[in-house]
Amino acid sequence: MLSERIQQIHTEFESDISKVSDLKELENIRIKYLSRNGLISSLFDELKNVAKEDKPVVGKSLNELRNHSTNQFNVLKEKLESTSSADGEKIDLTLPGVTKVLGSKHILTQTLDEIKIIFKGLGFSVFDGPELESDYNNFEALNFQPDHPARDMQDTFFISKDFLLRTHTSPVQIRVMNSHQPPVRAIMPGRVYRNEAVSSRSYCMFHQVEGLYVDTDVTFAELKGTLVSFARQFYGEDLNYRFRPSFFPFTEPSAEMDITCYLCHGKGCKVCKQTGWLEILGCGMVDPNVFGFVNYDAEKYTGYAFGMGIERTAMLKYGITDIRVFFENDLRFLKQF
Ligand code: PHE
Repeated sequence: MLSERIQQIHTEFESDISKVSDLKELENIRIKYLSRNGLISSLFDELKNVAKEDKPVVGKSLNELRNHSTNQFNVLKEKLESTSSADGEKIDLTLPGVTKVLGSKHILTQTLDEIKIIFKGLGFSVFDGPELESDYNNFEALNFQPDHPARDMQDTFFISKDFLLRTHTSPVQIRVMNSHQPPVRAIMPGRVYRNEAVSSRSYCMFHQVEGLYVDTDVTFAELKGTLVSFARQFYGEDLNYRFRPSFFPFTEPSAEMDITCYLCHGKGCKVCKQTGWLEILGCGMVDPNVFGFVNYDAEKYTGYAFGMGIERTAMLKYGITDIRVFFENDLRFLKQF
C-alpha cells in the first residue's frame, strides 16, 4: 500500500540524513530522495493508482513527507555550508595566521608615566584640568596683572576676551586649591599651547607637568630636596645640578633648575651653548598673592610649585634635538622607544 511505502521512506530518510557529515553526503541524499527521479517523486507517480476516495488522505501525507524532507535538507545544507569555505573545502587550521601588528605607547606617554611613578612615590597625587581656560585662571589668579609685561612671556591663543588655550599647566594649581584645603600635594600633567613660530626648539603645542605642595611650614629646602630626588631618579644618580634665581609672577622667590649637559658632561658644547648646563624646570615658593586668590591663609600656609615641559624632559633624557619629531608620527622615530 502506498501509505505504508510513504511511512517506510520517511523512516529511511530520517535515518539516512542523521548520518550525513558533509556536503557531499548531503548531495547523495538529495539525489536519492528529492531529485526528479528520486524516491519521493516516484511515490507521486504511484498516486494515480490509489483509489479515488483514498487520494486526499494519501496525497496529504505524501505532501507532508516532501515538505518535511526538503526542509530538513535545507537546514542541514545551510549548517554545513557555514562551517565550510565557499568551494566546499574545510578550513585548514594548520595554515599560518595573519599577525596583528601591536602599537606601543608614544614616547611622551612613556616619559609622563615615568614622571608620575616617581612623584607618586614622593607622595604626590595626580590632577588634570581643561585645555580651554579662563584668562582669570591662566593669568589673573596667578598674579599676572592685566598690563603686566610678564604676560608677554607667553604668546597666547585667545578664544575670546576672557578665554584662551592655556599657556601653561599652572592654572590647574588654581583649580586644585579652589577645590581642596591644605595639605595639597599634587602633580598636574597636560597639554599647553603657545602662539610661537614652529622650529626645532619650539612648537605651538606641547606638554607640561606642574607640581604643587602647600602645607604649614613648607620650605625652599624641601622644594630642592624633592626636585633633586626626582632628577636623580629620572636622569641618573650621578647627576650634577644647580638652582639659578629666576622670575615667575606666581612664585617668590623663583628659580630654574639646571642639570649637567647630557652630551658634553659639563665641558661645554653646542647643545648647552657652551655653558655645560641644561635647564630642566622652573620652580619657586607660591607667591602669597596667589593664596589670596584661592582664599588660603597666607599667614598660616606656605607652598612650593614647579613646572617642566615633557617634550623637553624627553629630549634631554634621550638626546632628541628636534621637538617636531614628537608630532610627526614617523614610525622610524616612534619605534626607537
Ligand atoms: N608655568 C611656568 C612656565 O610655563 C613654569 C612654572 C611652574 C614655574 C610652577 C614656577 C612654578 O614656564
